[in-house]
Amino acid sequence: MIAGIIGSGAMGVGIAQVIATAGNKVLLLDVNRDTLEAAGRNIRASLDKLVAKKLLSQQKADDVFANVTFTQDYSSFSDCTFVLEAIVEDLQSKQQLFREINLFAPDTCIFASNTSSLSIASIASACKNPERFIGIHFFNPATVMQLVEVIPAVQTRPGLVEEMFDIIKGWGKIPVAAKDTPGFIVNRVARPFYGEAIRIMEEGIADCETIDWAMTTIGGFKMGPFALMDFIGHDVNYRVTESVFNSFFYDPRYKPSFTQKRLFEAGFYGRKSGRGFYDYTDGATQPKPSKDEQLGNRVVERIVAMLINEAADAIAMNITSEPDLETAMTKGVNYPKGLLAWADEWGIEKVISVIDGLYEEYHEDRYRVSALLRRMNRENRTFLS
Ligand code: NAI
Repeated sequence: MIAGIIGSGAMGVGIAQVIATAGNKVLLLDVNRDTLEAAGRNIRASLDKLVAKKLLSQQKADDVFANVTFTQDYSSFSDCTFVLEAIVEDLQSKQQLFREINLFAPDTCIFASNTSSLSIASIASACKNPERFIGIHFFNPATVMQLVEVIPAVQTRPGLVEEMFDIIKGWGKIPVAAKDTPGFIVNRVARPFYGEAIRIMEEGIADCETIDWAMTTIGGFKMGPFALMDFIGHDVNYRVTESVFNSFFYDPRYKPSFTQKRLFEAGFYGRKSGRGFYDYTDGATQPKPSKDEQLGNRVVERIVAMLINEAADAIAMNITSEPDLETAMTKGVNYPKGLLAWADEWGIEKVISVIDGLYEEYHEDRYRVSALLRRMNRENRTFLS
């Protein structure tokens, strides 16, 4: 394979390294010369680290680096068999880009987008032959995260998903298939992890540090929702939340919070700006959680029940298969277990009762139980066993 990767920012660099490590030639292009030069230094530094940790030989690292050509010239794409864009998240820019690449890449070349929130169909529509277009969504950092979501557009030709599955496995990654709907799998199903946590905090039921403590210590998640949002950055996390909400025609289940919007507007992006939900400036003291077990259990029950409900709804709407959903949430966002396995463990009746309890309390459409959960409960079914 000769792969063309366009955009050498956070994602493009990692993706180029992954594909080059699998022994393929990669052309990495960026409009910004400085970014492209930094990309070279970043790949070199990342490979050096692997050599230092004895995870890669010096020879292999040199070979991988030699596989990557840094370019600003589209005409070098004339031999590419695969082109993926990881440029700025803007529909017009992505469409314009593929109109240009159409002029250089061969007609048989597969075209892909790493978009997180735009529809694959809308980007594909700018291509001369959109049947070769597909969504290939990596997770950050691409060199570390194993999951890749594969999203066919309505235009995508039959067989291309299976072809991409083989290619992605060859890169050492784990592919899952998703429908071309907002947030695909992970960014859709994970919304309540953030949204419900903020809601609990906004209502004064528990503070950020207690919710984070409960979700890690009792729930078993690697990071609590507030620490994770601060880590991702509110510029990124708020934008994804807003985009999923808008794209779902304002379904109240995905409604963004004013709390996060204000952090975003204030430039309190989290770790990267020194302040988010927590204070990261030197010498700042971190607040202590209350460690109230009963409260912690209620917090975990509420957030996990909402996550399971979202997962069930994704299955009900055929967004993905049950095994792919489990893989997506454990490999894409490192959940301690699959949400469907969690539903089976708790029993579907318990999930329904937690969410029905919230509906009783609030009478908001946000707390509507997925029809699939009700049906499965009536029929006494489980997801996996
Ligand atoms: P970034 O802002 O770090 O990098 C984008 C790069 O594209 C920049 O270097 C910019 O100079 C370049 N660029 C912009 N317009 C261009 C053009 N017309 N031609 C060539 N290069 C151009 O962005 P990041 O974070 O790497 O995201 C890229 C894409 O990946 C976006 O679509 C984003 O939604 C998606 N994504 C991002 C994730 C993340 O956690 N950052 C995770 C998964 C997907």
